[in-house]
Amino acid sequence: MFDGRVALGNLALRSPIIAAAGTVGSVYDFADVTALSVYGAAVTKSVSHMPWAGRPAPRVASAGSGMLNGVGIQNPGIDEWRTNMPDVSHLSVPVWGSAVGSDPAEFALVSKGLAAEGVQAIEVNLSCPNLELGTMFALDPRAAGQVMAAVRAATDLPIGAKLSPNSEDIVKVARAVTEAGADFVVLTNTVWGMGIDLEARTPKLSGQVGGYSGPPVKPIALRCVWEVASALDVPIVGCGGIRTGEDVVEYLMAGASAVAIGTVHFAEPRAGKRILHELAAWCRRHDVETLRELTGAAHSL
Ligand SMILES: Cc1cc2nc3c(=O)[nH]c(=O)nc-3n(C[C@H](O)[C@H](O)[C@H](O)COP(=O)(O)O)c2cc1C
Repeated sequence: MFDGRVALGNLALRSPIIAAAGTVGSVYDFADVTALSVYGAAVTKSVSHMPWAGRPAPRVASAGSGMLNGVGIQNPGIDEWRTNMPDVSHLSVPVWGSAVGSDPAEFALVSKGLAAEGVQAIEVNLSCPNLELGTMFALDPRAAGQVMAAVRAATDLPIGAKLSPNSEDIVKVARAVTEAGADFVVLTNTVWGMGIDLEARTPKLSGQVGGYSGPPVKPIALRCVWEVASALDVPIVGCGGIRTGEDVVEYLMAGASAVAIGTVHFAEPRAGKRILHELAAWCRRHDVETLRELTGAAHSL
């Protein structure tokens, strides 16, 4: 029988598949659409300290076989989020809160608020634009470490740093966040991208440049997983372009212990169930009894 359980450091997951932040609404909305029991965890859309309005339309666009988004982390702020978010313990999936902010103190405040609502872990979104510095925390190992240290001091929950494929040296950033107390890293968020609307002669997104996701980004995120797994001993969630069970196997063999799926939900809301079945079938065909034996398997030569 297929055993989908995996460990992300000290965090035990019943399934290696996590529903990625921002692609399953508030998680509650998604419970009406699909069976959440196929996921090891589901991540909320990122929440900031104060409300963020997000960018005007158009905020999403197709681009090749991938998707561009420039939503701008529209969210009601942590206080409103806490008022409106129903009790997460009623869901049939462990919920992770995703924290975002403009400085370390804001990340810490949001993480405290998320923790108070009973989330299982905090994913720290270091890979969104940093308004104060005009860049992303995840591009700067020192700034990324400062945020993780502040979140570490704010909560005893497991914390993970969500990093950017646009980092010049992803290993340096992963090392900095691990030294600052991250229990795991999520590799990765979207890749910077853009598209042009030929008829309108304008960028497809109101923010001009946005995040690119879906199947074309898989080799990029996979490379990040490979590099970090080669250099560091930190649990990794692989994320980017996963569409099939075999994609999951690839991420595990590159060094991930679990994976997150995002864009695939927009075309196929029940993709998590299919991908888990495909993964189980692959494991049966290859006499794989535990997923742990796949993690890092491609590094052994
Ligand atoms: C519409 C949209 C909204 C997103 N919102 C968030 C977010 O709020 N926080 C976050 O950390 N990542 C966010 N992401 C990034 C995804 O969680 C994921 O890291 C990325 O899309 C790569 O995975 P994928 O190719 O499977 O989608 C968003 C992605 C999309 C497409």
